[in-house]
Order: sequence, then structure tokens, then C-alpha cells
Amino acid sequence: MSPETLTLIASPTEAPASWPSQDELDPSKEVMLEARDVTRIWGKGQAAQTAVDRVDLTIKRGEVVALVGPSGSGKSTLGALLAGIDRPTSGSIVVTGTRIDQLDDDALARWRGRHVGIVFQDYHLLPTLTASENVELALKLNRQRTRRRSTARAALADVGLADKIHRLPSQLSGGEQQRVAIARAVAVQPGLLLADEPTGSLDQATGRAVFAQLMNLRSRGTTIVFITHDDELAAVADRTVRMVDGRIVSAMVAS
Ligand SMILES: Nc1ncnc2c1ncn2[C@@H]1O[C@H](COP(=O)(O)OP(=O)(O)OP(=O)(O)O)[C@@H](O)[C@H]1O
Ligand SMILES: [Mg+2]
Repeated sequence: MSPETLTLIASPTEAPASWPSQDELDPSKEVMLEARDVTRIWGKGQAAQTAVDRVDLTIKRGEVVALVGPSGSGKSTLGALLAGIDRPTSGSIVVTGTRIDQLDDDALARWRGRHVGIVFQDYHLLPTLTASENVELALKLNRQRTRRRSTARAALADVGLADKIHRLPSQLSGGEQQRVAIARAVAVQPGLLLADEPTGSLDQATGRAVFAQLMNLRSRGTTIVFITHDDELAAVADRTVRMVDGRIVSAMVAS
């Protein structure tokens, strides 16, 4: 990230007057996700650090939300909480009627496997599995074995990788690996997609192309939360939520 971008992100936040009230969010859309008074503290005692601090956030079904803010402001921590990868220290998170912070580890993993797609900056593909096998693995909870292969291949074709389904991650470029990760995330047809700096490891042109693939999900009505340091990408979202020091300091609806 360039120093200019950092300065931009760290610049004084918008006046509270620009915050959308709940009424300003499209009232015709149903609520997808509701986080209330969510706090996540890492470590204990002297070393305790509040990464997410009493956050309230409501996201409507089909909304595309950009989560922005300086490094260390708690974006990844909050994203992980919303996607059920991690659990809050206190507060509640309800996603389509399920109180996910109260699920035990097994139930949370099952819930995540059925309802959430996740894309990370560094792809997180299994190195010994081919592109197709990486996607098939994500379908284990959701599909019969015979359907897994065809679904995986269709998802890979959707991101332009029909001819590379048998490649190992090490035989793919960074952009291609991230496309596999996107195919894996969307193959389960998740209600919620979390992308944590999905273009962070890619050059700008490749990043733009990969981001466009992600945004294709918009037309399917997928609710998308993406974390980015790139203001141009954030501008594509319906709403930008800015964090500083673990708190949401502003949330702007795109004009
Ligand atoms: N697993 C962890 N154990 C302890 N502290 C953590 C852990 N993960 C994050 N933190 C701390 O929580 C705070 C928020 O980190 P987080 O990764 O959420 O920030 P971020 O906004 O995603 O930053 P970046 O833009 O650099 O990715 C940081 O101070 C970080 O050091
Ligand atoms: Mg992060």
C-alpha cells in the first residue's frame, strides 16, 4: 500500500451526520446480518488488546459492503467474526436468524461450510490438491460426491479456468490461484461472502480482473463484505464502513 493511500485512509473521519441511520438502508431488503455490541479482545491481562470494540453493524441481504481503515484497525478480526471463523469475546452476531456466536465449534464449522464463502489475500489453497479438488473439497458438506465434480468444474469455468482444472496451485499464477479461491468460495452458493484483501497480493491489473469476478456475484444476490486498502475498489460497494482502533467510525452509502 502506498503512503498516500495510508494517509487517505487515516485522514479525519466523516462527520457523524453522514452516517446512515438504519432507515436509510434500503428498507425493502431483509436483514442478512446483525452484529450488536461486538467486542473481540486478543490476549489476557497486561497483554490484552481490544481488536474490535463494541461494534454495531447491520447488513441487508444482497448488500455489498467495503470494510476499510488503517492497518491494525480490526478489519480482519471483525470480518472473521461475521463469517464465523472466530467468536466474539462479547456481543451477539445473528446471520439469517442464526445466533452464530452461540454455536459450538462443530456447529459453527457446519454453518460456515453451508452459508459462507471466504477468500483470503494469500489464497489458502491446499498445495497437494488440483484446482478442481480444492473446489470439490469445499462442497463436501453440501453435495453428493457425483455432483461435486461437475459443480466444481462449472465454478472454475465461471472464473475462466476451464482449461486449468487439473493444475496444482504451484502451476498457477497468483491471479489464477485467487480465481480458484473465488470458485471455491462461490461453488457452495453462499448467502454471505467475506473477502479479506482479495486483491492484496496481486498487481493492479490482475487485481482488478479478479475483483470483477467477485463482483459478478452481485447479480446472484450474494451479500458481500470485502476488506480493502484500495479506495477505487471500495467505491464499487453499496456502502463503505470505516474502522479505526476497533470501532466503526463512519459508514457511508454510495452516492
Ligand atoms: N491472532 C491474533 N492474536 C493476537 N492479536 C491479534 C491477532 N489477530 C489480530 N490481532 C491484533 O488485533 C488488532 C487488529 O488486527 P486486524 O488483523 O484485525 O487488523 P486489520 O485492520 O485487518 O489490519 P491490516 O490492514 O494490516 O490487515 C491488531 O492490533 C493485531 O495486532
Ligand atoms: Mg487485515
